[in-house]
Amino acid sequence: MAKQTGQVYRRLLAYSKPYTRRILLAMVASLGVAGSDVAIAKLVQPLVDYVLAAQTMSLVNLSAVVVIALAAIKGASRYVQEYFIKTAGQLVVQDLRNDVFGHSLDLSMGFYAKTPSGSVVSRILNDIGMLQKSAADELVAVLREGLTLIGMVSLLFYNDWRLAVVAFTVLPVAVLPASYIGRRIKKYVRKSLANIGLLTSILQESFSGIKVVKAFGTEGDEKQKFRSENNNYYQRMKKVIRYDAASAPIMELLSSFGAAGVLWYGLQRVMEGAMTQGELMSFIVAMGMMYAPMKRLIKTNNVIQKAVGAAERVFELLDQPIDIYDVPGAINLRDVRGHVCFEQVDFGYDDELVLKGFSLDVPPGEVVALVGASGAGKSTLVGLLSRFYDPLHGRIAIDGQDISQVTQASLKQQIALVDQETFLFHDTLLNNIRYSKPEASEAEVRQAAQMAYADDFISAMPDGYATVIGDRGVRLSGGQRQRICIARAILRDAPILLLDEATSALDTESEAVVQRALGNLMRNRTTFVVAHRLSTVMHADRILVMEDGELKEQGSHQQLLQHGGLYKRLYDVQFQEQAG
Ligand SMILES: Nc1ncnc2c1ncn2[C@@H]1O[C@H](COP(=O)(O)OP(=O)(O)OP(=O)(O)O)[C@@H](O)[C@H]1O
Ligand SMILES: [Mg+2]
Repeated sequence: MAKQTGQVYRRLLAYSKPYTRRILLAMVASLGVAGSDVAIAKLVQPLVDYVLAAQTMSLVNLSAVVVIALAAIKGASRYVQEYFIKTAGQLVVQDLRNDVFGHSLDLSMGFYAKTPSGSVVSRILNDIGMLQKSAADELVAVLREGLTLIGMVSLLFYNDWRLAVVAFTVLPVAVLPASYIGRRIKKYVRKSLANIGLLTSILQESFSGIKVVKAFGTEGDEKQKFRSENNNYYQRMKKVIRYDAASAPIMELLSSFGAAGVLWYGLQRVMEGAMTQGELMSFIVAMGMMYAPMKRLIKTNNVIQKAVGAAERVFELLDQPIDIYDVPGAINLRDVRGHVCFEQVDFGYDDELVLKGFSLDVPPGEVVALVGASGAGKSTLVGLLSRFYDPLHGRIAIDGQDISQVTQASLKQQIALVDQETFLFHDTLLNNIRYSKPEASEAEVRQAAQMAYADDFISAMPDGYATVIGDRGVRLSGGQRQRICIARAILRDAPILLLDEATSALDTESEAVVQRALGNLMRNRTTFVVAHRLSTVMHADRILVMEDGELKEQGSHQQLLQHGGLYKRLYDVQFQEQAG
């Protein structure tokens, strides 16, 4: 555990490295702050011992000037210190947040299948927020109070080392409870942040699933879920507060032992004449000034432990291995013809295999349809080709190139996917379509929309292509959303086209039109079409019938009907439905 904490410090330190100059400046300014404090404590002695004794007015005037001058130095130094250290902290946090978001986006679909995105959001916002609040802001205190403490301690020993020893016997005693409290605080802060992660997930799910909540009238259940998790958070924070609140009184009590000892021993030494009254006063003032930063530092330790707790969680996310990555020396896929090959591919999301020894050879330009029961592995196949996952065994090749050996960027350039789940960004329709090709002109976007049979309804909107749609496109119908996604894929103009239930939400009439448009698009492109509606796939060059991750039948529509297997049965069922 201790080693881990050390690592966290080191990594945070590495993040602050680019801002060394700011931090150094702040440290120098801290010297000014601490120095003026120490000077004031030191000046008490000559003030009492000489100025009062000498009864000289000019010295009285001078002391007034000195007090103001010292305050001015302290104020200016404090400003410089605070400004530079806080901006440094802010910059460190900014870098860290950028890195964590960047890393999160590079994590694979496998990671996101297992991790609720709310918990990732929470780490980026809340955990780093906690880190910022505690570390960045408290660094000021550490610097300032630390240096003041060192100054005061030196002054105490310089003044009277015997008294100083008495005053400091409390210090080692104080370290034990302080570090115990710090450890507890760190533990409960970690737990409370995990609770905030769960809270964020609940929030995210209930808002993005608001329609389901409303449809089933489960607002009450969601509120209850939220309330109970919110209370869990409170229970954890209560422990943090308890330890936090206990630390000051404990330190107060311990320091009173030191103060009492100094008073008891110091007064005796003054009576014996071993020390002047002024020296004792100066000592007591310095000791008072020392206990203040010491208490502050102990409190700071609590805050820093909170930061470490938060940082551990942040680094955990940053340490999540990226399992889909460009291999060293990965080449770029270029001038793809679209020859797609699955060779003995085994794949499973968990222990169970979804695809077993799957092989398929698709020559350039062929339109392949995938049909089969729900859960047969059709989307999985399409996902593997997009390299959302890597196969466990076997390989997938495009134009003979293993796709795990080429750069992801160049692979994605070759692929246009219309997924089973439509997703639209909170942006204009124009930008939603243009997402697949940011440099496309408005005319190109319009053309793609026309092909996807989307131009009509877009143009009918009050703002046309400039219409902003909700983060889940709530103002569009299911079929309209699909057509936006199809337009997006058309615009991509890639040699390999993947259509996973791309037209399932369209009415028969618009599907026929979109199909015709896609038919044009499919020319010279290798295409995978997944569809339950057989009318969608009848005209494919080849139809693959999948069952439980295996290829059961393949051939043209006519061949498969003649064959009289699974496809024939599916066809009969759908045909009867239509006829009846
Ligand atoms: N992310 C995932 N994690 C774990 N298992 C998954 C995941 N996605 C799919 N599966 C499982 O893999 C199997 C194949 O799923 P897949 O989505 O490929 O089916 P499909 O043929 O596309 O079905 P549908 O026609 O309903 O879309 C299913 O048993 C499913 O439960
Ligand atoms: Mg599917």
